[in-house]
Amino acid sequence: MSRRFVFGTNLKMNQTAAESVRFVQDVLDGLEPVEGCQFFVIPPFTSLPAVAPLAAGSPLWIGAQNMHWATDGAYTGEISAGMLTSIGVQLVLLGHAERRGLFGETDEAIDRKVTAALAAGLKVLLCVGETAAEKDFGVGEETVSRQLKIALHGMDAVALPQVQIAYEPVWSIGAGGTPARPADVTPIAAHLRTTLTALYGDHGQGVPILYGGSVDPTNAGDFTALPDIDGLFVGRAAWTADGYRDVLAAGLAGLAGRR
Ligand code: PGA
Repeated sequence: MSRRFVFGTNLKMNQTAAESVRFVQDVLDGLEPVEGCQFFVIPPFTSLPAVAPLAAGSPLWIGAQNMHWATDGAYTGEISAGMLTSIGVQLVLLGHAERRGLFGETDEAIDRKVTAALAAGLKVLLCVGETAAEKDFGVGEETVSRQLKIALHGMDAVALPQVQIAYEPVWSIGAGGTPARPADVTPIAAHLRTTLTALYGDHGQGVPILYGGSVDPTNAGDFTALPDIDGLFVGRAAWTADGYRDVLAAGLAGLAGRR
């Protein structure tokens, strides 16, 4: 089954609204639509109202970095799915390693968020990944399948086309991270695919699995050359429009080599 290729970046806690407008405009200016490819940018909440209209009707989804599962209520500091869709946000990132590790987000909370996001009509980019300790103990596969099964618990196959998975080994993310080798990624990506098909049969074959963690133009093609990897989820290397284009070009070259 041919899966779409999904590529984009999470800006984390970087950029003012004005900076995001310039960044998204520059990314859009340099973006050639590619058959079967979907692009995204996930800026901070404060940039969303300014950039969502810029990308409307383009091949770029604008995403939020998090949301709450409730539709409204006494949840100081939180944002609901309906607030995001009301300003044209199409995608929400859920379960990023920094949310899990720094802010105590649990698998159960992520399950509730996935359910709420899909019910509100948002697409979901769900992150899974093992820590360095889990890798050393040899429980990487168990970790990602547990995260995946809980996050998708109770979800009907009908919603599956709205879901993309990012495999991001926690030990590979950020300035202190060690880039994973393709040999680290292959078995986990295959295990995620097996888990998806165990849950959803053939429908599980259609879910894109992205790789993320210290991706840059020098290694992007190594990951997209892997049969179970269907895109890239990039941080630092794609925080300039030139960087975004360079990593994308390298990723597409890796993909072309395998097709
Ligand atoms: P990085 O970030 O590419 O800067 O390692 C990846 C991520 O946090 O998703």
